[in-house]
Amino acid sequence: MTTELNDYVDFTKGSLDYRRRNGGGRKQALAKAIGLKKAANPTVVDATAGLGRDAFILASLGCKVHMLERSAVVAELLYEGLQRAKLNADIAPIIERLKLTHQDATNYLPKLCLTENIDVIYLDPMYPHRKKSALVKQEMRLLRTIVGEDLDTAALLQAALESNCKRVVVKRPKVATHLDDKKPSFCIESKNTRYDVYLKP
Ligand SMILES: C[S@@+](CC[C@H](N)C(=O)[O-])C[C@H]1O[C@@H](n2cnc3c(N)ncnc32)[C@H](O)[C@@H]1O
Repeated sequence: MTTELNDYVDFTKGSLDYRRRNGGGRKQALAKAIGLKKAANPTVVDATAGLGRDAFILASLGCKVHMLERSAVVAELLYEGLQRAKLNADIAPIIERLKLTHQDATNYLPKLCLTENIDVIYLDPMYPHRKKSALVKQEMRLLRTIVGEDLDTAALLQAALESNCKRVVVKRPKVATHLDDKKPSFCIESKNTRYDVYLKP
């Protein structure tokens, strides 16, 4: 399983490389949700790093991203993917902007906020299991077999909202309810995905 997932943490080729070049830059929905403007490069904590794909896109757009991942297996996969990518001269400057910590974000965020200035916390917990899974990408199906369901997302969102960051962004399936039924400040939508954006006073 982890061998198959290895292909999905290859930042140098395949769909990630394609998306880095053709993903729409700062006009893509993820960038808008994070609040990337022409000059602004917010510091982001990706509290649910997974395979590092969203974090990599954000780093390729100029953000510094601190990734948190609680699964030891997934964190190791991601760590190895980052090490391999550092050897690629084109990609290495992007990887420089990524940092990985193997921690449960719900517990770790309050400590992290004491030492780091965080502009945005990004959450992409495992989507609720869907019977009609044609829209669920292969890599997410494989990931689910390792990490299972994320059943404690309400606590994670609460920890993010209580932190001293300015903005919390939650990635959801377009048709899903808001996480923990908390109404966001606004939403940004793409084809199958919705980003719920919570602005903090
Ligand atoms: C859907 S995946 C994230 C995919 C990621 N956005 C990407 O682009 O590859 C969710 C990941 O979040 C991790 N996760 C869920 N809750 C977490 C928490 N409280 N702290 C750290 N990691 C968490 C899971 O182990 C899983 O690997």
